Amino acid sequence: MGSRGQHILLLPFLAHGHLIPFLALARQLQQTKGFTITIVSTPLNIQYLKSTISSDSPNIHLAELPFCSTDHGLPPNAENTENLSPHNVPTLCHASVTLEAPFRRLVHDIMDQEDGGRPPLCIISDVFFGWAVNVAKSVGSVSITFTTCGAYGTAAYMSFWLHLPHLHRDYKEFFKLPWFPDSHRFHCSQLNPLAKVANGTDAWSMFMRLQISLSLGSHGWLCNTVEEIEPLGMEVLRKYLKLPVRAIGPLLPPAALKKPYSSSSFGSNIFKQRAGKKLGISQEKCIEWLNLQGPSSVLYISFGSQNTISASQMMELALGLEGSGKPFIWVLRPPTGFDIKGEFKEEWLPKGFEKRMTESKQGLLVHNWAPQLEILSHESTGAFLSHCGWNSALESLSQGVPIIGLPMGAEQIYNSMMLMEEMGVCEELARGVQSDIVGKEVIMRVIELVMDKKKGKGKEMQKKASIIGGQIRAATKDPGGEDEGSSLVLEALNDFVSVLSDA
Ligand SMILES: *[C@@H]1O[C@H](CO)[C@@H](O)[C@H](O)[C@H]1NC(C)=O
Repeated sequence: MGSRGQHILLLPFLAHGHLIPFLALARQLQQTKGFTITIVSTPLNIQYLKSTISSDSPNIHLAELPFCSTDHGLPPNAENTENLSPHNVPTLCHASVTLEAPFRRLVHDIMDQEDGGRPPLCIISDVFFGWAVNVAKSVGSVSITFTTCGAYGTAAYMSFWLHLPHLHRDYKEFFKLPWFPDSHRFHCSQLNPLAKVANGTDAWSMFMRLQISLSLGSHGWLCNTVEEIEPLGMEVLRKYLKLPVRAIGPLLPPAALKKPYSSSSFGSNIFKQRAGKKLGISQEKCIEWLNLQGPSSVLYISFGSQNTISASQMMELALGLEGSGKPFIWVLRPPTGFDIKGEFKEEWLPKGFEKRMTESKQGLLVHNWAPQLEILSHESTGAFLSHCGWNSALESLSQGVPIIGLPMGAEQIYNSMMLMEEMGVCEELARGVQSDIVGKEVIMRVIELVMDKKKGKGKEMQKKASIIGGQIRAATKDPGGEDEGSSLVLEALNDFVSVLSDA
């Protein structure tokens, strides 16, 4: 292979949960002088990144790939899973494969115009964009796959799609997933609806199986996790990918990694990073409310930007919260079947609920979006009722906050299982993708269990969450400092690149 330039191209999948960790990765890379960092995406995602980056990252470049959603049978301006109804997500996935040709042209343009014909140093692509591995290899770049999820979740998700265990003769209520130790059993309820109907020839299976397989051909893998907190997941990945795998996390805003927490370390930046979301409440109001509560007494509830619960589950949750008597902050979104970004209707909650909770100060109801890291890092917060999306889980753990799991889609269900069984920091409201509503009695019982920090399981979970929080913060050598976070990502890149050069 000839010499390579100093250009690093990053190619995230078209979803906020992927763009944000890729951006965090870019921020870490730009700390090192000499590299040119470019994030590549479709026009609207680039616009979004532009609004998010701000002036503090002058060295991150953005490059657009032409993409017209209506050409692919998608609604106008649909370039990100966030703005899509669930049945359109597979269509967007398939459409994303057409980005290969314009991406290839972009790489050649960069080589010709900027780098004297030399290929980019490396191309870091999302596991859902396996086609980028071919592009990287064809021009002589180092190809790196980045999975924005944790190691265990990534391994389980990939193993599922590559093996489709539910089609196997031996498939039973409890089943084994290839790659995982024999003692490790998964439950049939842990297949989400898309997985349940997958037969290997449907559109969703074809996309997943092809992109994952192509990604297995890259030169090295990066995971947004910390080696010490996911020993099993890392072991499984290394053993079966047969590639160098590096944990480079946690990719979180630097302020999240400082301890002891001081609110002054949170500039407005952190929220800008959180994606130009409109907060449903001011940061100050939230903190004011939390300051009124006792240490570790508040339950924080949010299901991320793309998930919501059914109307009847919402009703039960409200009743359970009120019945528990515990203080809570709840980020409310319209229930399933309604526009998740639409107006919230009072009828979705028990009569007079919001008024009662506000007057008694038991609950703070936030519409739309809350300053999540501010809340999680506040000493009054004692647990997080979460869908177990990986970004949320990492944020919670980085602050030593135990989790109550209500996983919904993607690899969330495996995250929640790992958080519970490997880490011991999570209690699930129910196992698997819920077809039944979890009743208020169960909700009250689980809240009681997890929020009791003085004895039993709640105490144990808190202890383990604090230890893991310490490991996460220790993984960043000099958080907020001069060469903040540089270490792990750069070490990994150096390794991957030098292995190739030696070969
Ligand atoms: C697999 O699923 C697809 C889509 O649901 C269907 O069209 C196809 O007939 C199925 N194939 C087999 C072999 O069952």
